[in-house]
Amino acid sequence: MNDLPRYSKSQLALRNGQDKPEVWVAYRGLIYDVSHSRLWKTGKHYEHWAGQDLTDELLDAPHTDKVFDRFTLIGVLEST
Ligand code: HEM
Repeated sequence: MNDLPRYSKSQLALRNGQDKPEVWVAYRGLIYDVSHSRLWKTGKHYEHWAGQDLTDELLDAPHTDKVFDRFTLIGVLEST
């Protein structure tokens, strides 16, 4: 995990599915690329938006974090 690139919150925020083609979501400090998911098209997933850390919001989901298994881990979110 140490060899993954690190991204700031503002770099993540640009991958919200609106400003750039990439759709990224952070969960527990790790960033996943969900660009290929039809459920995250344009960055919106039900009432949730990509480009940010959605760790706390997963509590509202009808599924577990198993949903991230089939997506590529692309980076680590800087904590500052
Ligand atoms: C109101 C809250 C939410 C609802 C109703 C919802 C609903 C769903 C449903 C129905 C699926 C597809 C079936 C499944 O895999 O269980 C799904 C997949 C997924 N969800 Fe959520 N979800 C919610 C919140 C979230 C949050 C907060 C995250 C991120 C932390 C998230 C991440 C994902 C991912 C990555 C997938 C897999 C997409 C794919 O396989 O293409 N969901 N969600």
